[in-house]
Amino acid sequence: MTSIAVIGGGKIGEALISGLVASGHDPASITVTNRTPSRREELIEKYGVNGTDDNNRAVAGADIVALCVKPVGVTAMLEEVSDTVDDNDSTTVVSLAAGVTLAQMEESLPAGTPVVRVMPNTPMLVGKGMSAAAPGRYVSDEQMAAVEEMLRAVGEVAVVAESDMDAVTALAGSSPAYYFLVTEALIDAGVQLGLKRDVATKLATTAAEGAGALLGHGEDDPTTLRTNVSSPGGTTVAALRELEESGLRGAFFRAAEKCAQRSAELGK
Ligand SMILES: NC(=O)c1ccc[n+]([C@@H]2O[C@H](COP(=O)([O-])OP(=O)(O)OC[C@H]3O[C@@H](n4cnc5c(N)ncnc54)[C@H](OP(=O)(O)O)[C@@H]3O)[C@@H](O)[C@H]2O)c1
Repeated sequence: MTSIAVIGGGKIGEALISGLVASGHDPASITVTNRTPSRREELIEKYGVNGTDDNNRAVAGADIVALCVKPVGVTAMLEEVSDTVDDNDSTTVVSLAAGVTLAQMEESLPAGTPVVRVMPNTPMLVGKGMSAAAPGRYVSDEQMAAVEEMLRAVGEVAVVAESDMDAVTALAGSSPAYYFLVTEALIDAGVQLGLKRDVATKLATTAAEGAGALLGHGEDDPTTLRTNVSSPGGTTVAALRELEESGLRGAFFRAAEKCAQRSAELGK
């Protein structure tokens, strides 16, 4: 079984551990490190994984090192474990930190180290994540397959070129917030129509969950799903016309563009 070192047991680190254990990965082959000892102990107790306060000890012998620390800490972390990675035969170092490039990772590690850059999104906290993974130049097919398998424990995976990462951020990394905003706006609209806020919240969030499930089912594309509920001359088309006239489609084009631009700026 693939041995995995999870460096940083915060929200994303825990989501990864939780998904791996739930999908049958042996907890004994997972080691977590975390700066605050109480948090580390909590994860060890909750999931039965190994833990240490020594990042090098966790990395030694691991097939995959999953870096789940904040972006600002990644380069220092890689330099800290660089010699240990060098001692291993084929450790793949995976960063889930936004904006940290493959080149930055490769520069901080011994020459030839296989590295993978991943952009996850927060639905991975409930096993519904969408991760995009870009392999570095030294990653073998077998190593990439192992990384994909690890990420599938918390949702879906798409393998992309690193040059697509900014667009990926606009479409998946940041997009859950767009859907939350739409749901929030619909709740306010319901309150304006006279519904109690708790009722409006239940209606809008359950509709979002249901629509998401239909999309996830994958039998019909979004256009078919929308036209299926748009009776000629009916209520839904009246609402859709207002959204189109308010420039919704253009707003998403512009939002995605801004998001990708910002991602590119942060990656510099
Ligand atoms: N695309 C997305 O939607 C998305 C969403 C979330 C996260 N991410 C990425 O995922 C990464 C993790 O995010 P998060 O939300 O899980 O952050 P978080 O909850 O703050 O977790 C980071 C963890 O790393 C630990 N840590 C920091 N320095 C460490 C060190 N030197 N050794 C061991 N552990 C250390 C921290 O411990 P202490 O708290 O004890 O310091 C903390 O528990 C980030 O890089 C972020 O960019 C992406």
